[in-house]
Amino acid sequence: MAEAEAAGDAGLGPAAAQEGAEPAELAAVIGATVPTGFEQTAAEEVREKLGSASRISKDRGKIYFEVPARSLPQVHRLRSVDNLFVVVQEFKDYQFKENKEDALKDLEDLVKKLPWTDPMKVWELNNSLKKKKTKRKKHNLQSPASRGKLSDGGEEGGADQNNTNDQEDCAQNPVAVEPTGGQDTENPQEVTSRNGVEEEEDNEQSDVKVEVQASSESGTKAGEGQTGEGEAKVLRFRVTCNRAGDKHSFTSNEAARDFGGAVQEHFQWKADMTNFDVEVLLNIHNNEVVVGIALTEESLHRRNITHFGPTTLRSTLAYGMLRLCDPQPTDIIVDPMCGTGAIPIEGAAEWPYCYHIAGDNNPQAVKRAANNISSLLRKNESKDSSTALGVPLDVIQWDICNLPLRTGSVDIVVTDMPFGKRIGSKKKNWDLYPACLMEMGRICTPGTGRAVLLTQDKKCFAKALSRVGHIWRRAQTVWVNVGGLHAAVYLLRRTSEPAQDTRPFW
Ligand SMILES: C[S@@+](CC[C@H](N)C(=O)[O-])C[C@H]1O[C@@H](n2cnc3c(N)ncnc32)[C@H](O)[C@@H]1O
Repeated sequence: MAEAEAAGDAGLGPAAAQEGAEPAELAAVIGATVPTGFEQTAAEEVREKLGSASRISKDRGKIYFEVPARSLPQVHRLRSVDNLFVVVQEFKDYQFKENKEDALKDLEDLVKKLPWTDPMKVWELNNSLKKKKTKRKKHNLQSPASRGKLSDGGEEGGADQNNTNDQEDCAQNPVAVEPTGGQDTENPQEVTSRNGVEEEEDNEQSDVKVEVQASSESGTKAGEGQTGEGEAKVLRFRVTCNRAGDKHSFTSNEAARDFGGAVQEHFQWKADMTNFDVEVLLNIHNNEVVVGIALTEESLHRRNITHFGPTTLRSTLAYGMLRLCDPQPTDIIVDPMCGTGAIPIEGAAEWPYCYHIAGDNNPQAVKRAANNISSLLRKNESKDSSTALGVPLDVIQWDICNLPLRTGSVDIVVTDMPFGKRIGSKKKNWDLYPACLMEMGRICTPGTGRAVLLTQDKKCFAKALSRVGHIWRRAQTVWVNVGGLHAAVYLLRRTSEPAQDTRPFW
């Protein structure tokens, strides 16, 4: 048997009743996947909105925090998190046996020793909060080659931003392994929405996904996980294993299969790959093992956008960028290259006391952004009549190099710049980036203005910034993973130097 030491010191063990005390309120250790690079931002949001301290996982792109189960609705309203799960147990230094069979047997044996009861109660409470996965019709509008490049994480790359490790693999489900798709790298696909505008669909998992078909039909008796009311209902489940590290003797597929088999036996649940009630997560990162139960069916970043474009940014990443520049009430916030509007729409939703202006030189992008704003308005109207006045956000077609805005009139610029791969080109960026920085410097208030800019074309950006050092000072850089690309988010502060306006006016 492997030596498996459960984490206790970080306060991340399962919530346990203290001896002699009143029965403890049900608590949950929540794990959340977040855009890589914005773990700290997510931890700050959790502290601010839920009052809990977070631990950032060694496995980047995840945070853990403990909350009373009654706070679950607020957890689902966090803006910086993508997917949520309740931790069953965490092992900080799990000793895997070297021999494959022994290592897998240990994982199997682990199942019956885990403290499932409270996490399953949390799962049950969460069922009424969980947003169902949106069904998206898929039409392949592109050749497979170009389709492979699409991602909604940003400019390019098919892999999810949360998983970047080369040694990482992911497998779903256990029992009676019968690979259906073999190895499958992520190919987000374009789909057509009802209005005929292309939507882009991404996928939550990255790198390699091995799908295995569960064929077992066993089980008539529900275990601890039953829904509780009267008649026992046999729950359907799947296990998803994410593994990173080069010292394991087994694959994620094998771990999911054997762990899943033991879960099925323990609970008498029924394995079902696609139509499951419970998704058990087995996250293995080197010697860190976390067993959890998923609390989200669809990533929480899918909240604002209905009309997708080729490089639509995740709302969670947009939130992280906006938070970096610390918006204050009445601030004027501009996204001069807004695309589908992911940044200004997130901004207007979360900072409604600021005024948001969005623009793009591509009329199709402006149309998509306008459609997304309309969808948001409709959603707000159906929820709450007090928002009938609309959202503090306008969208305009313009050229970033020549903005129709008064010098020094803007507090914040937040934008996701063309990386020069799918939009524009690296060559064009050599002219575009310095011109952008000059024009952003002109419209921003000297001394207090700030800009948060995302790009993967770091070399070009650094060169451009060195040319405008008199108006912009770099305050912070956050390294992020955008659709598998190593990108940077720069926080710039406007110096007090007045900007020169050399443009010929009409
Ligand atoms: C990376 S995309 C922005 C994606 C956006 N964040 C979204 O969520 O859809 C960059 C955008 O810059 C726009 N753009 C490129 N050159 C521009 C220019 N000179 N003026 C204004 N917008 C420009 C492109 O049309 C594109 O929509």
